[in-house]
Amino acid sequence: MVKSIAVIGGGTMGSGIALTAATHGLTATVVDVSAEQLEKAQLYHKKQTKKAVSKERITQQEADVTIENLHYTCSMKDASEANWVVEAATENIDVKKNIFKQMHQSFGENVILATNTSSISITDLASSIPEAADRVIGMHFFNPVPVMKLVEVINGRDTSEETTEATIRFAEAIGKTPVTANDFAGFVSNRVLMPMINEAFHAWNDGVAGPEQIDSIMKLGCAFPMGPLRLADYIGLDVCRDIMMVMYNGLAENPKYLPNQKLVDLVNAGKLGDKSGQGVYSYE
Ligand code: CAA
Repeated sequence: MVKSIAVIGGGTMGSGIALTAATHGLTATVVDVSAEQLEKAQLYHKKQTKKAVSKERITQQEADVTIENLHYTCSMKDASEANWVVEAATENIDVKKNIFKQMHQSFGENVILATNTSSISITDLASSIPEAADRVIGMHFFNPVPVMKLVEVINGRDTSEETTEATIRFAEAIGKTPVTANDFAGFVSNRVLMPMINEAFHAWNDGVAGPEQIDSIMKLGCAFPMGPLRLADYIGLDVCRDIMMVMYNGLAENPKYLPNQKLVDLVNAGKLGDKSGQGVYSYE
């Protein structure tokens, strides 16, 4: 049984994965090269547990246990006792391949090396550590991780059956519903979601309607919790653009996956959504 995990990357997804594991009784160590990012992760954990107590979702004692379960470090070696690893670093293949090599060196030889990539090929990532490719698997969580039920589980070409079964059990143990998908760029979630978000940018760019109208129509007409443009800001416009490009490159350069120019322009202007205070909408 998994008792302690290491999460590589203390951003939105990494800190959410660590919090989810900690609230389910696991020790979770967040590893990030940036001490500032670790501080932000710790603040997020404190804020969320405090909020859960104030809403009487958990007791103060349970909140204290969750906080005690969480650890933070800039060195992967400090987390090497963990018996499960989830990589949740920047969505860049070279960065991730480098991290996978370090993970392979730092953790025990039976430890499963999962990646929270949202679109990059698991087989490609596993090629950075061919001798351990059977232990590499995709565990794609959704934002906000503590709330969203799904974990999309993706096997690479060499992922073993034991790894898949253990991943399904682990996802369930931390309160998630695992669903398997095959190793195509964007998997299922982003193959379906991102072209819809991109189409919302096309509709805005073509003058079909403004962002507020597009989002209201999709919220009220299709029962989405957020409209596609609001969701794009929430995910991060740079992330949306990058995922579209991974799909464009990974799916035979089909032009339908090219990001809309308005989306690209906003990213180039540093307007990345919620995280930069400005995206399709302003959050100041
Ligand atoms: N961390 C932890 N909990 C959070 C949270 C966060 N960042 N944000 C919200 N919550 C919790 C709140 O505390 C609240 O909990 P309680 O019910 O216990 O009070 C609950 O979620 C609802 O939040 P709010 O009442 O503040 O707001 P809301 O009802 O408007 O819901 C939302 C907010 C859950 C984000 C909702 O708008 C939603 O589901 N939006 C769509 C999110 C979505 O589609 N995510 C997937 C993005 S795609 C992706 O992640 C993958 C990828 O590869 C790009």
